[in-house]
Amino acid sequence: MARCFVTRSIPGPALERLAAEHEVDVWPGRLMPKRSQLLARAAEADGLLSMLTDRIDRDLIEACPRLVAISNYAVGWDNVDIAAASARGIPVGHTPDVLTETTADFAFALMLAAARRVVEADAHVRRGAWMTWEPGLLLGHDVHGATLGIVGMGRIGSAVARRAEGFGMKVIHTGREGGVPLAELCGRSDFVSLHVPLTPETRGLIGEAELRAMRPTAILVNTARGPVVDPAALGRALRGGWIAGAALDVTDPEPLPASHPLLEAPGLVVAPHVASASHGARAAMAERAVDNLLSGLRGDPMPHCVNPKAHGQARDEG
Ligand code: DGY
Repeated sequence: MARCFVTRSIPGPALERLAAEHEVDVWPGRLMPKRSQLLARAAEADGLLSMLTDRIDRDLIEACPRLVAISNYAVGWDNVDIAAASARGIPVGHTPDVLTETTADFAFALMLAAARRVVEADAHVRRGAWMTWEPGLLLGHDVHGATLGIVGMGRIGSAVARRAEGFGMKVIHTGREGGVPLAELCGRSDFVSLHVPLTPETRGLIGEAELRAMRPTAILVNTARGPVVDPAALGRALRGGWIAGAALDVTDPEPLPASHPLLEAPGLVVAPHVASASHGARAAMAERAVDNLLSGLRGDPMPHCVNPKAHGQARDEG
């Protein structure tokens, strides 16, 4: 029986399967453990089930002598130092596929909300400003028939593209097969939707040059990772009218404090990193994360492993 530290309670029954085989310590409450708490609890663990908010860096990995498996409850793994885990022969699991369609739904919801000013319309009614039907009230931008530029045509980008077909949109994308350069995509798109992982190459990918290349009527949608967009440049773009709006599920920093200047910018719709937050997707992510951890603890290959070559490395060398 191994010891597992789960850094937050996760939806669905999956943790029961983990607890049936191992000793499971689940961090209580909604808030993430502080760094010192994470270090203290993980140091005792053979298996770690982490959230995307936990920084699983080299220092942490080195401070956890028993650790043999890390399972990240997310498709993204930018919070985990994969090289440090691999150097210790620790496999790192993630949760692809099960959140693809759910995240694409939310990217589309954000696009529609920003284009058709849904949040402003709701606020208009609630503050008692709805006096009569008005021909020019809350005019927005059409989504149907518009050009959608997808940056990162992977699993989620492709799922967004499939939805766009139903709206009669023209889809262009970056990438090797049939893709266009990013600058061209920015200039041609009515909507730019981001679907790249956060890596050293994609950090700040959308900065001043890209935002200036976009159309003044265009809307930026980000359901990828906050630091893919330069937040200061985005604030200037919205205030300066370089673009018409932005719809963000992810921000830099996260959480975005209520006093953050970006929140004063016009045309902004923002959500607290909830694109995969459907009951079904989050429960399926939990199953996947537990499957990965159980396999890692048994010494079997994880079904969804970021660094499969790490599997058994430490044992083989030892
Ligand atoms: C992920 O999985 O990486 C998302 O950002 C949260 O579901």
